[in-house]
Amino acid sequence: MEYLEIVGGNPLCGEACIQGSKNAALPILSAVILHRGTTVLKNCPKIIDVLYMLEILKGFGCHVRWEGDTLVIDASDLEDCQVAECYGCKMRSSIMLLGSLLGRMGNAYVSYPGGCVIGERPIDMHLAALKKLGAVLLEEAAGLRAVCEKPAGAVVSLPFPSVGATENVILLAAVAEGVTILENAAREPEIGELCRFLNSMGARIRGAGTSRIEIVGVKELHDTEFTIMPDRIVAGTYMFMAAAAGGEILLREVPLEQLESVRTVLSHMGVRQEERENTLRLWSTGRPCAVKDIRTSPYPGFPTDLQSPLLAALSVADGCSIIQETIFEARFKIVEELRRMGADIEVEGQKAAVRGVPKLSGTDLTARELRGGAALVLAAATGEGRSRIFQYHYIARGYENIIRDLQSMGIVIQCT
Ligand code: UD1
Repeated sequence: MEYLEIVGGNPLCGEACIQGSKNAALPILSAVILHRGTTVLKNCPKIIDVLYMLEILKGFGCHVRWEGDTLVIDASDLEDCQVAECYGCKMRSSIMLLGSLLGRMGNAYVSYPGGCVIGERPIDMHLAALKKLGAVLLEEAAGLRAVCEKPAGAVVSLPFPSVGATENVILLAAVAEGVTILENAAREPEIGELCRFLNSMGARIRGAGTSRIEIVGVKELHDTEFTIMPDRIVAGTYMFMAAAAGGEILLREVPLEQLESVRTVLSHMGVRQEERENTLRLWSTGRPCAVKDIRTSPYPGFPTDLQSPLLAALSVADGCSIIQETIFEARFKIVEELRRMGADIEVEGQKAAVRGVPKLSGTDLTARELRGGAALVLAAATGEGRSRIFQYHYIARGYENIIRDLQSMGIVIQCT
């Protein structure tokens, strides 16, 4: 069985370059099929979720080829509008194909989405919003059938700023007849990136990054070449690793303006930061300081995807920290694993109280989802001695080459 082996306990020293963003790449790949032509994507991360998405696109009839880091997708002729079940049920983002399939083909079949096991993750907001644009939905036992012969603009107000529901509305509204006003939209940077991508193909979308997005539907899109932005969550993971392990690292291609909430927490933890253009130098000595009270919230708040890496880093902080998770209900799954390394964490409902210990100890660990898995890598890099992390495939869903990155930051790590 494939596992990661890490010898931890030494301060970091070295540098890493941040990969392209997973959560930007996936909706953009979904958007590609709205255009009957060729799209060139640069800096697309070669992660498992992207590779699954490409298999789904091939199933529709897209021609896909890699030229180094650049992806060329020809979506001129699509024959099928069904998301192959073997991929659809493995990844949450397959639900995003609903909006774009309806926009391109007028009908769609998507098996109920899978993805990280971090809670119930219903899709009710996606469905209610798409219905407003004219979709007719038929919920079947294994998946969802949808038809939308003439998508038409509408006013859609989301009950919560769901990232995926915002993206699904944008995808269908981009080619619908008339104007869509999306209220209480998510403001995550990945929404802005999707809109920039669509606008580069000729879409007319304004207001991304605010909670009111206006989409004027267009009849046709055109070929485009687009560079995907760097991944703020991967950058944040390495930033918290530097906080926990100490030492000095240089991160390149960091989306600094998207990481304000994270950098504030890092400052409270006592990590020194120096930015220059899009590089960030981080250094610290000794244990990080505890953070009194931190809660996850939609952007620009502290990202739920960095809650597990933060939890792992605070396990070795000097003092007691409280973390409250407000987005997903099952995101403290790694606590059990961290406790086996010697962490002192108590969970009550959606709150975790972390009493920092001087050191974690290496042991055998099991990843159960993407970000929790990355947090275990962080803990193992910090802990004394050897750790083995099983079910590495969860981490490869979002981290293109965590082994290379950590090795270049001086950590002894290999995949066996
Ligand atoms: C996206 C990100 C994920 C991140 C999350 C929150 C991608 C591929 N994934 O996930 O990494 O953790 O945003 O920043 O971009 N909800 C409903 N009904 C719905 C939709 C959502 O109840 O129809 C709930 C969810 O269960 C969750 C909350 O709303 O509790 C936020 O979900 P959402 O913003 O939609 O996250 P995702 O798009 O799934």
